[in-house]
Amino acid sequence: MPSPEPADTNEDVWKSDHMVAQWVATADERERRREEHRRLMADLLPFEHDEAFTFVDLGAGTGAATKAVLDRFPRAQAILAEYSPQMTAEGTRALSGYRGRFTYVELDLACGDWPAEVPAGVPAVISSLCVHHLPDERKKELFAEIWHHLAPGGWYFNYDAVRSDDPLVEATWLRAGDRQDPEAAAARQHRTAEEQRRYENHVRYMAPLAPQLDFLRAAGFEGIDVYWKQLDYVLYGGRRPPAA
Ligand SMILES: C[S@@+](CC[C@H](N)C(=O)[O-])C[C@H]1O[C@@H](n2cnc3c(N)ncnc32)[C@H](O)[C@@H]1O
Repeated sequence: MPSPEPADTNEDVWKSDHMVAQWVATADERERRREEHRRLMADLLPFEHDEAFTFVDLGAGTGAATKAVLDRFPRAQAILAEYSPQMTAEGTRALSGYRGRFTYVELDLACGDWPAEVPAGVPAVISSLCVHHLPDERKKELFAEIWHHLAPGGWYFNYDAVRSDDPLVEATWLRAGDRQDPEAAAARQHRTAEEQRRYENHVRYMAPLAPQLDFLRAAGFEGIDVYWKQLDYVLYGGRRPPAA
């Protein structure tokens, strides 16, 4: 008999006070390494510096990607879509310096029920480090939903981790990653049971890059590119074609 699929633990992780507290406590260190990537995502958006526009950040967490966009465009407004009350509370605190420029809305990316607070025809949607929590079929549906919520000419960018089907590529990523972070190998070998559960949740639906770009194509995006990549981290995106 085939062994049953391991349970999807994503909600248990992201709606746990303890897990979220741990994630938040270690976030600054991770964010220091991502500053450039966050800035690049903001730089890719096609707006003038002082243009007023509203963008949506899916699976926004505490707003790390949102902050980069709000900093780059001083008249931008953010809608942060999240399903974790704990992450929403932490983010509301973390973004207190941007009061009046952001709102959180509740959205479970695993379903297609976008709340009415996300207006039709937004000029930009971003996501970071959350699409990998969705099964591939749902990633594909989500990209189509994003396309429909964008205005013609609107852009979507996603910053995320990917996996490779080629063990040689995976091993090469790991070798270089361990050289860049000498503590990573030891941390990997000595995970606590809880860290192991978080890791398993992290990789459960992580997908290779190529099918994700195919999902963007299937949804109708143009200008699709991997605008940045380093080892297993990528920043890809595309534009909903302008109306003819
Ligand atoms: C690794 S954190 C990334 C947060 C933020 N985007 C960032 O870049 O720092 C993953 C986020 O995705 C959210 N998330 C995971 N699954 C989700 C789902 N099904 N619907 C909405 N949010 C989800 C989690 O609550 C968490 O805030």
